[in-house]
Amino acid sequence: MLYSLARSRPFLWLILALPGVWIMWRWTLTPDEYGYGHAIGDTGDWAAWLLMATMAVTPVRLMFKRAGWTNWLMRRRRDLGVASFVYAAGHTTVYLVRKASPELVFAEMQTPYILVGWFALALFLPLAITSNDASVRRLKRSWKSLHRLVYPAAILTFLHWVWSAFDPTTAWIHVGILAAIEIVRLILQRR
Ligand code: HEM
Repeated sequence: MLYSLARSRPFLWLILALPGVWIMWRWTLTPDEYGYGHAIGDTGDWAAWLLMATMAVTPVRLMFKRAGWTNWLMRRRRDLGVASFVYAAGHTTVYLVRKASPELVFAEMQTPYILVGWFALALFLPLAITSNDASVRRLKRSWKSLHRLVYPAAILTFLHWVWSAFDPTTAWIHVGILAAIEIVRLILQRR
């Protein structure tokens, strides 16, 4: 009973929502300690981490083919992707609330790292909308082709991170981890 609850979709979403609740809680209730800089950084980090987790599912599955928990992980892959999008949408909301002026938002689109962020979000949007069983059935083979957009979207996301950072070391470490994940996936898929 407890085991099936822990494996259930609502429970997963409860866990996935926790960082978001924590960020909103602190940003709204303790804005002096936890201001815009923290909120934009933490929402961006969670969007990127969940994106990496989503992209790691296939290589992990290929590595541990016989383990039952990897079936569960494969079934929940779309949830992780959607959660990444939700954090990216939250990140954009934090930004829009702070700017509070369409003129300023349009003017800042001339800043390369901001423009790249918008492009990444635009690529994630169709993926998030079609991450459900009905879309998988309706789009058939084109669903897979459409979802390959995750690769350019990930590249844009990490470019955005590297460009936005004052010290890009952390961003580059994450680029390295994602590159390793992709190399492992390619090697295992070729076997
Ligand atoms: C909709 C367009 C977007 C806008 C306007 C935007 C804006 C920003 C801003 C203002 C920052 C803070 C830069 C600073 O430290 O001064 C930032 C950082 C970041 N953004 Fe975005 N962003 C966008 C899309 C995205 C997307 C789609 C993702 C991920 C899926 C993302 C992930 C990140 C990450 C990881 C950081 C670095 C956080 C850190 O420093 O720890 N952003 N973004």
